[in-house]
Amino acid sequence: MLSGSDTNKKMAGEEAVNYIEDGMIVGLGSGSTVNFMLKKLGERVKEGLKVKGIPTSIKTERLARELGIPLIESVNIERIDLAIDGADEVDNDLHLLKGGGGSLVREKIVDEASDKLIIIIDGLKKVSHLGAFSLPIEIVPFGWKLTEIQIKKLGGIPTLRKKNDEIFVSDNGNFILDCDFGQITDPQQLHYKLKLLTGVVETGLFVSITDKVIIGRNSRVDVLHR
Ligand code: 5RP
Repeated sequence: MLSGSDTNKKMAGEEAVNYIEDGMIVGLGSGSTVNFMLKKLGERVKEGLKVKGIPTSIKTERLARELGIPLIESVNIERIDLAIDGADEVDNDLHLLKGGGGSLVREKIVDEASDKLIIIIDGLKKVSHLGAFSLPIEIVPFGWKLTEIQIKKLGGIPTLRKKNDEIFVSDNGNFILDCDFGQITDPQQLHYKLKLLTGVVETGLFVSITDKVIIGRNSRVDVLHR
């Protein structure tokens, strides 16, 4: 029996599969909502849909392989037709806060490069302003406390991400600082300021790249367009 939130995620994830056409190269995001999408896509592939997927995390890659979804090696990708990804928050301008699962770098490489980006969420993640969820920032491990100090100077309150009492290490071998900036009124400006810090690899602010948001709520799906 699925929880209400999981039912919403499943509805949004399964609806997104209807936008995948034969022959497409598809960016496969990461997270529990994407996992519902992958299960439906696996069924369509078994029925004969021809796609090639580009996974944005090791977890997504494993699940896609289990489900029989054909994948392309990341070094061989030159274009992507459509990416489908989850998010931790989506604001009224369809700017995103992402990285709760720690896959933000690969997600952003794929989501930005894709001709179209569809975001799939549970309705609770639609907010008027980003920032209630701490902003994940991937940083280089070397001298990480120095980068943390620089982020504090920009107004953030960082917490080093841990998993089972160990420092969390991303698929790229980096650390993640979850940073509380309060309400983020100008995501683009905050992103630019953070990106200027040498130790910052990438931020979880995905600004002006979303084409469509599919929201599962109250047993139906709503679609927002840019
Ligand atoms: C991972 C992400 C995920 O898309 C985000 O955390 C949403 O996850 P879920 O679908 O499990 O709620 O950005 O880096």
